[in-house]
Amino acid sequence: MDFDRYDRIRPIRWQDRRLSLLDQRKLPFVVEYLDCADSHAVAQAIRDLVVRGAPAIGISAAFGVVLAGEGIAAANGAQALVAMDPAIAELNASRPTAVNLMWAIARMRAALAAAGGDWREVIEREALAIEREDLAANRHMGRLGAELIAPGSGVLTHCNTGSLATAGFGTALGVIRAGVALERIDRVYASETRPWLQGARLTVWELLQDGIPATLIADAAGAHLMKTGAVQWLVVGADRICANGDTANKIGTYHHAIAARHHGVKVMVVAPSSTVDMATATGADIHIEERDGAELLAVAGTRTVAEGITAFNPVFDVTPAGLIDAIVTERGVILAPDAARMAAVFGTG
Ligand code: MRU
Repeated sequence: MDFDRYDRIRPIRWQDRRLSLLDQRKLPFVVEYLDCADSHAVAQAIRDLVVRGAPAIGISAAFGVVLAGEGIAAANGAQALVAMDPAIAELNASRPTAVNLMWAIARMRAALAAAGGDWREVIEREALAIEREDLAANRHMGRLGAELIAPGSGVLTHCNTGSLATAGFGTALGVIRAGVALERIDRVYASETRPWLQGARLTVWELLQDGIPATLIADAAGAHLMKTGAVQWLVVGADRICANGDTANKIGTYHHAIAARHHGVKVMVVAPSSTVDMATATGADIHIEERDGAELLAVAGTRTVAEGITAFNPVFDVTPAGLIDAIVTERGVILAPDAARMAAVFGTG
């Protein structure tokens, strides 16, 4: 498959030891990169959703660690780690649910701790490796996931899991790209993903760049769409996959998965192994991020709700493993995931 044909968008640019992030708050109408001068600016960009999507957050934070090393005088990595600790801790805490963030920070810490006098180069190489490996994983998962889909199928996806959310190509959207290229997928539906509209603002825009026709639906139209028989698979990404296969993803994934089971639509979760958290036993143990209720009270900056109303804004939910037909990672496909099947691939954490 001609991956380069599909691989044009890059949310993260690292050039001459400078980081710039495609400002996803402004898409689809303004394509603008934001320079991050230091690690604090990277943490702020993650908090503010300039960059979002589990793998992209992890990669950005890894480059944030490299920036945290600027201006630090240390003879070796262990000394640098002590000096950089507050900045690294800030990056680690910038969002709570996507485990790729903590995974990337742990990997950067380990590389730094083991480094000698060349620690600056060591951590830059590590961040670049994290980015490179993510892209390779996505391309591999794209084919693995697409092969599960019968020719002539329709798919529904939720949130944005594409190039914008990763180093490139995407996870669930990578499967959709591969599935279209391999002529298995005929119809692509994306739900708008209230309140931040990752589906409406990002996913269908990405697909448009690739010339892949997609149809937008309201989040609440998912069950009805499934009832019409238009889709055979719900294909989504993940922010954290627990040891028993329970999966946290963008709010609304859970209700799509319940509707999918009711209508005989299969559910595929696509995520790199950096999203797997074998140290978290079940979904009940996941910290679900709650964002400012103001995100629900306005649309595109215009208030739509009467003053005096408060809003509850959890931005992720947990789909129990029992509703998932396949988890696709770069290490292979786990059908009907449960604790034993997860442990067979990922060990016991
Ligand atoms: O709040 P976001 O936009 O960071 O949430 C993103 C999602 O929930 C994605 O589905 C998930 O991170 C997988 S991205 C490959």
